[in-house]
Amino acid sequence: MRRSLKDLQLNEEARNKMRAAGRFNAQLLDFLRPYVKAGITTEAIDKLCHDYTRDHGHIPAPLNYHGFPKSCCTSVNEVICHGIPDSYTLQDGDIVNVDITSIVDGWYGDQSETFLIGQVSDKARQVTQCAFDSLYKAIEVIKPGSKITEIGQAIVAEAERYGFSVVREYVGHGLGTEFHQDPSIPHYPDPRFNRIPIEPGICFTIEPMINVGRYQGIVDPLDNWTVRTIDGKLSAQFEHTILMTEEGPEILTTTEHGPKPGHKF
Ligand code: MF3
Ligand code: CO
Ligand code: CO
Repeated sequence: MRRSLKDLQLNEEARNKMRAAGRFNAQLLDFLRPYVKAGITTEAIDKLCHDYTRDHGHIPAPLNYHGFPKSCCTSVNEVICHGIPDSYTLQDGDIVNVDITSIVDGWYGDQSETFLIGQVSDKARQVTQCAFDSLYKAIEVIKPGSKITEIGQAIVAEAERYGFSVVREYVGHGLGTEFHQDPSIPHYPDPRFNRIPIEPGICFTIEPMINVGRYQGIVDPLDNWTVRTIDGKLSAQFEHTILMTEEGPEILTTTEHGPKPGHKF
């Protein structure tokens, strides 16, 4: 287990590359947001994502990533993550996470948002709220030199207020000129990461997946991607790309649009 992330600390030039990648990715989500409504298929969302990215001269990172067949992930209801866009039509009462990642000039921006489709159940609204709030609780708690495990502590504390569980098998990650790199960012307090400090210049995602029921998931044996909750209960997720600076965490994947801290779903 590495004790330091020294070699991952980005200089100002590299930080600006990450800022540009995050900004484009956030603009892409701004573009997609109004389309994520009842009546659209998840593959239509994928096509919008793909075409907008290519039209701007950038690359959708998920496409062909370890064989992933589409340009974004669309995870509906009991799907925890890595849902493959297909002919499914979103309907009133669904929740769907749209996870998008762009490569801009060789650098990655990665974020996701869960959308409520029409009128949803109380549980669907609560798990979405919990995932959103836990992401911002984690961002608010970290400062330069904070230990990675403080992120998981903040997320678990928020989940426990609802009696919900935190997915353990899929974690946040460092990113830069690679999609998934060190450090690993567990969303629960894993003692293996207790000692690793988040120094200025480190770039990573926080992407808590919160389940109404048990935390375990199972991968669909037919497509080898889609991860569903083991008990079939709902799951929600939000993700941002974060740059730790000397002043504190900078969220790279927001624009003036989209839900802000304190937002009520
Ligand atoms: N965007 C996801 C993440 O947050 C990874 C998706 S990998 C894919 O890390 F291949 F499924 F696209
Ligand atoms: Co990610
Ligand atoms: Co993502």
